[in-house]
Amino acid sequence: MMSDDNSIIRVNNLSRHFTVADGKSGFIGSIQNLFSRRYTTKKAVDDISFSIAKGDFVGYVGENGAGKSTTIKMLTGILVPTSGKIVVAGNVPHINRAQNARNIGVVFGQRTQLWWDLPVLESFDLLRSIFRVPEDDFKRNFEELSETLELGPLLKVPVRKLSLGQRMRCDLTAALLHNPRILFLDEPTIGLDIIAKDYVRKFLKMVNKERETTIILTTHDMDDIEALCSRIIILDQGKIAYDGSTEKLKIDYVREKAIEIELHEDDTGTISIPNVKLVKSTANKKWLRFNQDDISVQEVVSQIMRERRVKDIAIHEPKVGDIIKNIYANGKAASQQTKLQKTLP
Ligand SMILES: Nc1ncnc2c1ncn2[C@@H]1O[C@H](COP(=O)(O)OP(=O)(O)OP(=O)(O)O)[C@@H](O)[C@H]1O
Ligand SMILES: [Mg+2]
Repeated sequence: MMSDDNSIIRVNNLSRHFTVADGKSGFIGSIQNLFSRRYTTKKAVDDISFSIAKGDFVGYVGENGAGKSTTIKMLTGILVPTSGKIVVAGNVPHINRAQNARNIGVVFGQRTQLWWDLPVLESFDLLRSIFRVPEDDFKRNFEELSETLELGPLLKVPVRKLSLGQRMRCDLTAALLHNPRILFLDEPTIGLDIIAKDYVRKFLKMVNKERETTIILTTHDMDDIEALCSRIIILDQGKIAYDGSTEKLKIDYVREKAIEIELHEDDTGTISIPNVKLVKSTANKKWLRFNQDDISVQEVVSQIMRERRVKDIAIHEPKVGDIIKNIYANGKAASQQTKLQKTLP
């Protein structure tokens, strides 16, 4: 994607390789390994480029091992790229690590950023001094966050005694205390129950909207993506398989539509429209399917309304998660337009 003036993150031809030893197993093997060890190079991130605009909420998705966390670690300055260029709010993360840290907040769902044995509030205080947040700003920010995330009863509890959902609320607060411009979230809803997930989603939506924080979210939960992200980047074996708006993803990949029609009790007629398949039919209910390349939704609906007495009509959209699953399954082949029959009823 082209970078523009509004971009807050720019990534150009970024790669990160890992050298892994191909050890032989067993006793004899381990002795052989002493003399001749083979190494292979794992291209965890393989020549990717993208730019992210201020205020975007981007879903960064891909199967296990696709290279998501490796990318996030490079963007946050924890890992040094093998090659390529990253600029995050004017800084090269692994070079200007301290400056970069002031602009970003990071949550790794798998691991807390807080001090295990300290009460939550003391952890926050430490962060305040590390980030040198002015007392007044901190206070205002802390009060707002702790009220929204209902932290009151948790503040005196040592982090190790918190439940996963409670800890996540504290981790989110910790990541936002210095009011960063960018928030990186690596699986922030992992292991949370449905209610806690919903709560975290609402909170993130609010942060993106009201603080105009740019958010990059890595998750395996497709409902997170559907609920939050206006743009999706799909990573497949270290390469970008898709980058575009969530809406465009639906338009690009799903040309098939399904319509469900309920007719009035006294209308037992059939529906016959060229290019439209009648998938299933009972006395008063009809299920139709068609490809939008052949006929538009409007045409189908208006023809039915002209000919039949319709009581109810429902147009089915495939879920973003199903489309993404399909792209994982088909890998690069899915870069061309695909018919996604499976995603429709
Ligand atoms: N420190 C490391 N040393 C060697 N290989 C690594 C290292 N870190 C990551 N890898 C490899 O790089 C690839 C990408 O890993 P990464 O953690 O970025 O995947 P991911 O997309 O975050 O996956 P997941 O969804 O499982 O979290 C994997 O094959 C992984 O084994
Ligand atoms: Mg990961």
